[in-house]
Amino acid sequence: MEKRKALVLGATGLIGREVVNMLIAHDQYERVTVLVRRKLDITHPKLIQVTADFDRLEQNSEAFRVDDVFSCLGTTIKTAKTKENFKKVDHGYTIKAAELAAGQGTSNFLTVSAIGADSKSMFFYNKVKGMVEDDLKKLSFKAVHVFQPSLLLGDRSEFRRGEKFAESFSTKLPFLFTGPLRKYRPISGRQVASRMVEKALQNKKGYFVHRSDELQNGG
Ligand SMILES: NC(=O)c1ccc[n+]([C@@H]2O[C@H](COP(=O)([O-])OP(=O)(O)OC[C@H]3O[C@@H](n4cnc5c(N)ncnc54)[C@H](OP(=O)(O)O)[C@@H]3O)[C@@H](O)[C@H]2O)c1
Repeated sequence: MEKRKALVLGATGLIGREVVNMLIAHDQYERVTVLVRRKLDITHPKLIQVTADFDRLEQNSEAFRVDDVFSCLGTTIKTAKTKENFKKVDHGYTIKAAELAAGQGTSNFLTVSAIGADSKSMFFYNKVKGMVEDDLKKLSFKAVHVFQPSLLLGDRSEFRRGEKFAESFSTKLPFLFTGPLRKYRPISGRQVASRMVEKALQNKKGYFVHRSDELQNGG
């Protein structure tokens, strides 16, 4: 069987790092390219690290000629400072990457969205994530997989007070996340990454949305 090539965006992030580690360890992948602002401190014969200007992703269009693109990038409104900057990263870079990938004939585009994504939402974060999901439907891929995690658990270098608070709240009071609230139960970045790789390898056709609780249940 022919081996696969992957491109990872957001490779230095919580989910992205896990995806990269899983892909380079996987015998079905022969090459893993990452487009980064700062390089990962790992080397591996399958890993190609390309420093990119995300405002000019078209300069790296060749890198999108792969089987699977894993888009794990994103920022926060706090880091981005303005709503416009946040949208430029989470929507602009993701859709530009998807357009380049579609242009290069990539089969599978897998992207991390968020629980509650909805282009008609009154919450800006959810609205932007929903706009990404809507715009991905307009592009031509064999498969698009949208992952909608709840709060992500895992070690990150950046301290995020709100997320840390929610994390300790959820681990101390897990019984709160049952019944209809089950879908809000926090999920580890590793679990999301693992599902992303699994879905890419399933080779299905179509547009799929994977909800947080389904991801936790192995769905
Ligand atoms: N945090 C949560 O609880 C949560 C919940 C649901 C969904 N999500 C979504 O899940 C996705 C992945 O989250 P995560 O926590 O794994 O991400 P993360 O750890 O915050 O990492 C974000 C990644 O995006 C890259 N990035 C950020 N701003 C960029 C910019 N201006 N230009 C180029 N690259 C940029 C970062 O690169 P650098 O290392 O160069 O900054 C990093 O690789 C995001 O879309 C996020 O919105 C998060």
